[in-house]
Amino acid sequence: MEKVLITRQISDDALALIRNSGYEVTVYTELRNISQDELIEMCKGHVGLLSVGPNKIDERFLSACPQLKAIALMSVGFDKVDLLAANRHQMPVSNTPDVLSEATADTAFLLMLSVARKAFYMHKTIERGEWKFFDPMQNLGQDLYGKTLGVFGLGRIGLEMAKKAKAAYGMNIIYHNRNKNEQAEKLIGAKYLSFDELLQQSDVLSVHVNLTAETKGLFDKNAFEKMKPNAIFINTARGAIHNEDDLLAALQNGIIWGAGLDVTNPEPMDRNNMLLNMENVCVLPHIGSATKETREKMAMMAAENMVAALKGKRMPQVINP
Ligand code: DGY
Repeated sequence: MEKVLITRQISDDALALIRNSGYEVTVYTELRNISQDELIEMCKGHVGLLSVGPNKIDERFLSACPQLKAIALMSVGFDKVDLLAANRHQMPVSNTPDVLSEATADTAFLLMLSVARKAFYMHKTIERGEWKFFDPMQNLGQDLYGKTLGVFGLGRIGLEMAKKAKAAYGMNIIYHNRNKNEQAEKLIGAKYLSFDELLQQSDVLSVHVNLTAETKGLFDKNAFEKMKPNAIFINTARGAIHNEDDLLAALQNGIIWGAGLDVTNPEPMDRNNMLLNMENVCVLPHIGSATKETREKMAMMAAENMVAALKGKRMPQVINP
C-alpha cells in the first residue's frame, strides 16, 4: 500500500479520508520543528507528503525525495516552497486557501482592538499588582470609530478584515494591491492608493500579502517613517515582511503608536524580546487560523488535495500549474 507522511497530528476525519482512499498514513506526532535532513529521512518510503508547519520544500529536498508524487500543504502561505524547483520536478503542490480567511481576519481584528486598548499590557499590570486606583488619565488607548484602515493586500483575508472593520467601527477602507480589487471597492467602498499613500493615510495598517522577494522586509525604517504617529501596524501574514529592529525603533521613538503581530521572524519569538514588554504591542504565537473548525477544514482540504493527486487527478487547490 502506498504511504502518505503527515508531519503533525491532524483531525481524525482527514486521516480517515486518506486511509479510506486506500493509502497508509504515517503521522509524526512529536511536537518539535523538523530539520530538512530529518524530513528527507522520514519521507523515505512515502509517495505523499502532507506538510504541516514551516517545512522547506526546495531543490535539495525534492532531489532527495524522488519517490514523492505530491505535496499538500496545510497552510495558505507557501513561502517555504520553491515553486520553480517544484515545477522542475513536476511535483504538484497544493495549499488551503479560503477556509481560513475568516479565522485569520478575526486574529487581525483581535490584534487591532487589543493594541488600540492596550489589552495585553493591561492584563500584565494586574498580574504585577499595579491596579491600585482609578485614574482618568491613565491606561488610555485610542478609538477605532471612524478611523482609516489601510489593508496591504486586499485578497481573501484582507477583505474579511476590511468587512469586519467597516461593520464594527465604520472604518474607512483604503488599500494597496498589485491589482485593483473592483469587487471590494463596490462592496465596502475601499479606495485604491499607492503604497506610500497607504502608509501616510492609515490609522491602522494591516498586512495580508504573501511573503515574496518583493514583500520581504518591506516594512522597514523608511516605511514606518512615512506612517502617522498614531498608527497601529498589524501583521498576521509573515514575520519577514517587517523588519523587527526597525519596528522596535519606530515604536520606541514614537514614529508609530503600536503594533499587533501574529507572526514574527524568527518563530518562535525569543521570550526576552523587548516587544513583549511594550505597552502598545500585542504578540501572538502564529495562531491566525487556530480554531478547531478552521483547522479541521484545512486538514480536510489538504487530505482531499493529496488523494486527488495520488489518484492521478488535478489537486483542487494546486498552486503550481
Ligand atoms: C497559513 O496558513 O499560511 C498560516 O500562516 C499557517 O502557516
